[in-house]
Order: sequence, then C-alpha cells, then structure tokens
Amino acid sequence: MAKLFIQSYGCAMNFSDSEIVASILKKEGYSLTNNLEESDLILLNTCSIREKAEETIRKRLKNFNNLKRRKPSLIIGILGCMAERLKDKLLNEEKIVDIVAGPDSYRDLPNLVKKVKNDDEKSVNTILSLEETYENIEPVRINTNGITAFISIMRGCDNMCSFCVVPFTRGRERSRNPKSIVDEAKNLFNKGYKEITLLGQNVDSYKWSKETNNKKKLEKFSDINEIIKFSDLLEMTAKINPDLRVRFSTSHPKDITTDVLNVIKNYENVCNYIHLPAQSGNSRILKKMNRTYDREWYLNKVDDIKTIIGKDCGISSDFITGFCSETEDEHGDTLTLMDNVIYDYSYMFYYSERPGTLAQRKYEDDIPLDTKKRRLDEIIKKQNTHSLKRNKLTIDNTYKVLVEGYSKKSDDFLKGRTSENKVVIFPKKNGVIGNYVDVKIRDCNSATLFGDYVR
Ligand code: SAH
Ligand code: SF4
Ligand code: F3S
Repeated sequence: MAKLFIQSYGCAMNFSDSEIVASILKKEGYSLTNNLEESDLILLNTCSIREKAEETIRKRLKNFNNLKRRKPSLIIGILGCMAERLKDKLLNEEKIVDIVAGPDSYRDLPNLVKKVKNDDEKSVNTILSLEETYENIEPVRINTNGITAFISIMRGCDNMCSFCVVPFTRGRERSRNPKSIVDEAKNLFNKGYKEITLLGQNVDSYKWSKETNNKKKLEKFSDINEIIKFSDLLEMTAKINPDLRVRFSTSHPKDITTDVLNVIKNYENVCNYIHLPAQSGNSRILKKMNRTYDREWYLNKVDDIKTIIGKDCGISSDFITGFCSETEDEHGDTLTLMDNVIYDYSYMFYYSERPGTLAQRKYEDDIPLDTKKRRLDEIIKKQNTHSLKRNKLTIDNTYKVLVEGYSKKSDDFLKGRTSENKVVIFPKKNGVIGNYVDVKIRDCNSATLFGDYVR
C-alpha cells in the first residue's frame, strides 16, 4: 500500500480538513504513516494567517530536500491556505513542490496525484467553491484519542475583517446540511467518542434550509421555521445523548445570539465555554479592523453570557497588538477590557500585515516591531495573572471531568477537561479513559488544575 504523510498547521479547520483528505486518498490506496522515510506522498496542510506561519512551512519544505534526493518518486503537495493564497506561484518559489491544492479542491487530489505520477507534470487546483464541498465524506480520524473529535459545520468567511487573509483563502461562507452533521456526530458517539467540537470560522452565522444552502437566496427566504440556525443545530447535537459533550468554535461577537446562550444554559452536555475573540479593546481600532462591534457592544455580550450561563462560564479571546495606527492609549484600552472581562485564556499575536487584505491596501503598517512586541508582552503578562486568578476560583470545588488520556508527564496521572475547558490532572487510581469522573480541585497554576478523584 502507498504511504501518505500528512501534517497540519494553523487552525482546527485545517486539522479537520486533513481527515477529509486522508479519507479521499484512502480510497486511492493510500494508508497513513507517521514515518517520513517510508512515505510516498507528503502533504502539508498550510496556514497563511501571519507571515511567521508561512515561514514555518517554507522551512519545513527545506527538510524534505534530502528525502527527495534519496527517493525521486516522492511526491510533495501543499494544501490549505498558503496553496490558495499563492496558487501556481508557489511552484516557482518552492521547486520541491509537485502539487498545489486549495481548501475546496481536495476531491480532485486523486487526479492531481495521477498527473504528477503518470505524466510527470506538476499540478495545481485552487478553485474555490460556492457550495459545501465535503459533507458526505466520512473523515479518517488522524492521531485520534478516540474520545474527542472535530466536525466541520461550515466553510469560508464573509466577514472581511481588515487584517485577515481567511476570506481570500477560504472563500465564501457556506453551511453544511444539518442531517449530515448530526449523522456524523451520532456515528462518532456510537464508536465511543464522548465530545465533539463544531467548527467554523464564524459558527454563529450557520444557516441552512431545505430549499437551498445558498446564503444569498436564504435572506429572501420567508418561512423562518424552515431555516436551521446555529442555535437549532447546537440543540440537535445536544439531544443525541447526554453523555456526548458538545463544544463549538469560533463565535463572532456580532453574531452570537441569546438563543445560543440559552441552549448552553439548558443542556448540561453543551459545554460552558465560549471563545469570543475581541481582537482589541478600543472602539476606533475595532472599527478600523472592520469587526462591526465596538467596546461597549462586546462588553454587553460578555454581560449576557455571565447573566444567562453564569459567572463560571469559561470565556477566552484572541487579541492583536500594534494594529495600524494603534496609540499607547488605545493599547491601554485592550488592557482595561481584559481587566473588565477577566478571561480564562487568550490567544495573543502582534499584527502581521497580509498581502491583499483591506488593511494592507488602505492603512500603513506603522507600529514598529519592538512596540508591537512590547505591547504583546504586556497583554500576555496580564492574561497569565488573570488565568491564574480564574483557576484559583476552582479550588475546593468538584467538577465533572471527561478523561482524555494520560498526563504528559507521568502515566500515574490522568488528564481531562471540565465543561469550562480547563485541563485537570489527577492520580490514575479509579479514572478510566473515555469516562466522566468527579474531581475535587486541590491546586492550580495558570494553565492547569490539579485534583483528586472523588467518584
Ligand atoms: N474566525 C476567527 C479567527 C480566525 S484567525 C474570528 O473571527 O475570531 C485566528 C486569529 O488570528 C484571529 O482571531 C486574530 O486574532 C489572529 N489574526 C488574524 N489575522 C492576523 C494578522 N494579520 N496578524 C496577526 N494576527 C492575526
Ligand atoms: Fe478572519 Fe474576521 Fe473571518 Fe475571523 S471573522 S476568519 S478574523 S475575516
Ligand atoms: Fe490559518 Fe487558514 Fe486557518 S489561514 S488560521 S489555516 S483558515
């Protein structure tokens, strides 16, 4: 059997797509390998979100020079966002690459591979689609723990945040048939999985109807009952079984609805955790970023979450420091927003200008790198103290933890997560991987809770 080595970079959507790719290529006789030396086809599923992400891929490609010299029949392909952004230019820039395939062209991979193999020609397909592309493909789970899995519910993004390359690399927003999503979730549960994460760049704008899944036509659609919204989908997956935990990512603050918050409140198995990227705490910068909400709107959403779900609900964010023209005072607004919310966790970055985005065309990338980095350090420091503060609140409380595996450091300890998405480590004694256990928290640091098995 031919061997496929596939490596994913970037967001969860890419990791999920790689499982679709593995499924498509399995039908062509490819089995997965983690050993580069024995691989016949190497695919890198790439990310373009920041310049650094692309540099990482280019460095990785250099590692393959020796392999290819030793085995000239080895085929190397670039998938994902970098493939879509650079298209056939990538073949000139990186001579080692044989295949360039964008996120909507994975069904064409068997042909692209054949072209390289049989005709000794490089192959490219970066055509984006207006329709959901992969809904009836059963993904081959990669490096799975057999307990948690991703399910893609939509593709693309229509939001056009001015800093962001994703709308260009992933194309227009489209939602997947809810029946195929629920079937995939049921199937996973029947195989022993206990947690699914519904994935999309902006899950709250999920929208599907029987007549059409074309969003433009949907807006004219009159019978509201026929439309499945994200809150409906969330409820449909929650009802599969109380033992199946449901998570989702990512929510855009402008789109998350009270209906969604109520579903989280009403179903114990819908996890009390929301990733709600703010990006900045300053309204002028948010406007420039084209996020379409301001500081006040954002803080009101956080209030809604705390009122409806409760103060314990896990909340995390993404932040960008040093966006075009950001002043010290405006950066200070991000710090005070953090003080207001006290996030459990944040993903933090300094601004990286991306070719073709609105910000690159319209605004000057004028904040010096050392200022961007210093501001980033400041928010990271603040987040660390807040994470510790939030984690300390859990001490002496008991949580229902889904056991996902052994602790990285020792097989005498198990690792799991609470509904609020906090990682818990506890002695192995009675816990069984894949089960729910009650753990009483004894201690913590800013990243992890430590506890003891109760029941
Ligand atoms: N769809 C998600 C974000 C996906 S990208 C959302 O809207 O929240 C993940 C994160 O990368 C973003 O939230 C943002 O914080 C960061 N990011 C995106 N473009 C960036 C850029 N040009 N420079 C630095 N960080 C960026
Ligand atoms: Fe990018 Fe904004 Fe879309 Fe998120 S919502 S993927 S940040 S354009
Ligand atoms: Fe990166 Fe593409 Fe995801 S740019 S963050 S892999 S959608």
